[in-house]
Amino acid sequence: MRFASEFYSLRTLLALAALVCSARAGHSDETPSDEQPIPPALKQYKGREIAVTMHYEGAPWLTRESREREEECSTLIKALDVKPGQAICDMGCGNGFYTLKLAELVGETGQVIAVDIQQEMLRFLEERAKEAGIKNIKPVLGTLVDPKLQPASLDMILLVDVYHEFSHPEHMLKAMREALKPDGRMVLVEFRLEDRNVPIKLLHKMSKKQILKEIPPNGFKLIEQFDKLPWQHVMFFARDDSDLPEIKLSDKPERKRIGQVLGEDIYADQLKSKAGKGLGEELQQLFLAPLWQRYKEDHQAEIEPTKSEIKGATDYFQARHAKMLAEERPNLAKDLSRIEEQLKSEKLSPEDRKRLQSEAETLKKAGTPPGEVFARFWLPQQLLQQHLYRNFGGGRLLWQQFGVEAFDATHAWLQSEEKLGNLQIDNPEHRTLLFAYWTRDHGGFLWKPEDRPEETEEFVNPPWQKSVRREKERSSE
Ligand SMILES: C[S@@+](CC[C@H](N)C(=O)[O-])C[C@H]1O[C@@H](n2cnc3c(N)ncnc32)[C@H](O)[C@@H]1O
Repeated sequence: MRFASEFYSLRTLLALAALVCSARAGHSDETPSDEQPIPPALKQYKGREIAVTMHYEGAPWLTRESREREEECSTLIKALDVKPGQAICDMGCGNGFYTLKLAELVGETGQVIAVDIQQEMLRFLEERAKEAGIKNIKPVLGTLVDPKLQPASLDMILLVDVYHEFSHPEHMLKAMREALKPDGRMVLVEFRLEDRNVPIKLLHKMSKKQILKEIPPNGFKLIEQFDKLPWQHVMFFARDDSDLPEIKLSDKPERKRIGQVLGEDIYADQLKSKAGKGLGEELQQLFLAPLWQRYKEDHQAEIEPTKSEIKGATDYFQARHAKMLAEERPNLAKDLSRIEEQLKSEKLSPEDRKRLQSEAETLKKAGTPPGEVFARFWLPQQLLQQHLYRNFGGGRLLWQQFGVEAFDATHAWLQSEEKLGNLQIDNPEHRTLLFAYWTRDHGGFLWKPEDRPEETEEFVNPPWQKSVRREKERSSE
């Protein structure tokens, strides 16, 4: 008898040690005496190599500061549509990154069952829950084949970055199916294998195709998919006998939305640059260009230059140009004819000829008055800026090579478009980049109207416009 009891305690010890090691390696063929027998771990399942379980020493990675930015965890939480009072299982909860968030959402009347096979992970979770004062979490130490859940008890089972680690997928799926209520949902969140830009080891990623090869044959149906996370697939399944309607996997290539403008979605694949000035310019092109276009169309009658405005502006700029020439370049015509004379000589070296030709070009350019083409090109922009200035609160102005921009007014206009829902940028960093031009200090080029009253007056009430108005008044007298 003595021998037998010693034998048993040794056997139990060995079995427990094997279980701890299995958590490290992710697989176990051993059976603790009080558990159901654990069959050999699979190396592959339906053509996919099974990943080794993440060790508890790696837990800090799960609560890293950059996780929200990289994975948009709060977007996932919203998509889960958790209701107060629900019973939810965070399967493979790790140190409880999602468990704590879910516990707050289900509230005091609900509960989160947090299952993991690593006792250490559950200890980390308990410490974090205690610190946060959260009491509606029940930690459960599962086994590789049994998550120890109550039958038909759960509204949702969430598996974030977990399923691909199951060494016994069929056992786990069977147990989870039994634990779901008839209208309960099992949500698989897995890093996208199809996307090379997702910086995760291949074995820890899964394709949608593979997910569908594995889950439905185990008594589930696909009921929803959420494709808006930057790195992960989110696929919702229900028991195949549930009343929830099944959906087909969409054939359309997956696209990550980064916002919308005027009701049209804008997608990440429309951007070529990853960061910096290039990205800022692309965002302007994608988000602002359609808004400018719509603004021009909406106010066409007010900002389209009339014939008399084009004539007024042309005359005004010709006269200004002539005055400038008389004052600053009085000898321009003489200089030009002198050079043209020199160019007639056959004795010029090729270098001298080239230099004189270039000087002549420069003088000709300086002497050519800005014509109607200039007015046609410049006027619509000027009238648009004036319109914005008058309608969106005036404010600072920005000097530009081709006129003046209504700086603060444009900013205010864009904000108002956001409020109206015409402009929506999902990623706050993109938004900052998009608004950067209308936010940063452009030094001496940016001025307050009171600092430069004359230039402001010339923008708001330009002389050529005054003369057009006077003419109009005269003709209506
Ligand atoms: C990569 S971690 C993810 C943790 C957590 N879901 C998160 O996103 O922060 C995977 C976790 O799944 C657990 N796990 C692996 N196989 C499991 C099984 N059969 N049952 C329960 N948990 C399991 C691992 O112990 C590990 O803590």
